[in-house]
Amino acid sequence: MFFLTAFMAACALGAQAGPITPPPASTIYVPQITSPNATTVWTVGQRVNITWDASDAPAVINNEALAVLGHGAPCETLAENFDLRKGWVEVTVPKVTPDTDYTITLFGNSTNISEQFTIKGGH
Ligand SMILES: *[C@@H]1O[C@H](CO)[C@@H](O)[C@H](O)[C@H]1NC(C)=O
Ligand SMILES: *[C@@H]1O[C@H](CO)[C@@H](O)[C@H](O)[C@H]1NC(C)=O
Ligand SMILES: *[C@@H]1O[C@H](CO)[C@@H](O)[C@H](O)[C@H]1NC(C)=O
Ligand SMILES: *[C@@H]1O[C@H](CO)[C@@H](O)[C@H](O)[C@H]1NC(C)=O
Repeated sequence: MFFLTAFMAACALGAQAGPITPPPASTIYVPQITSPNATTVWTVGQRVNITWDASDAPAVINNEALAVLGHGAPCETLAENFDLRKGWVEVTVPKVTPDTDYTITLFGNSTNISEQFTIKGGH
């Protein structure tokens, strides 16, 4: 978990984070993210779902699924090793600086990035 701390700074500042190594780009399954999208507002500390269209997922996806929060650059891993065929994963919104241009990147056999969405501060 050491890298989370390092990436927190990037979430807060929108600065360039260190590279996140994606799984080997061996093949082509690109999960299209449906939520979050441009209308989505997440609140810090809230439990939320990331959802994607898994209808075209291959029967076997043998790779490391990763859901990464981005703010200009990838800044924090929210979930890993979940089942990409399921179509959703529940995560907790991390304590980041409220802003309107966050993205979620889903790494499967390939990557897909969500629309920009808003995270607002918690209480
Ligand atoms: C994704 O990768 C796994 C192995 O890493 C492979 O079995 C699967 O067929 C790939 N999916 C596609 C759509 O190529
Ligand atoms: C956008 O995301 C919201 C949840 O944040 C979801 O309810 C809605 O269906 C999504 N819109 C589309 C077009 O997928
Ligand atoms: C996420 O989606 C699953 C399946 O639809 C649902 O059971 C779960 O309650 C949802 N979680 C949240 C936080 O909305
Ligand atoms: C995400 O998926 C959609 C639908 O498959 C595709 O049109 C888009 O080019 C993908 N974006 C990236 C960054 O891979």
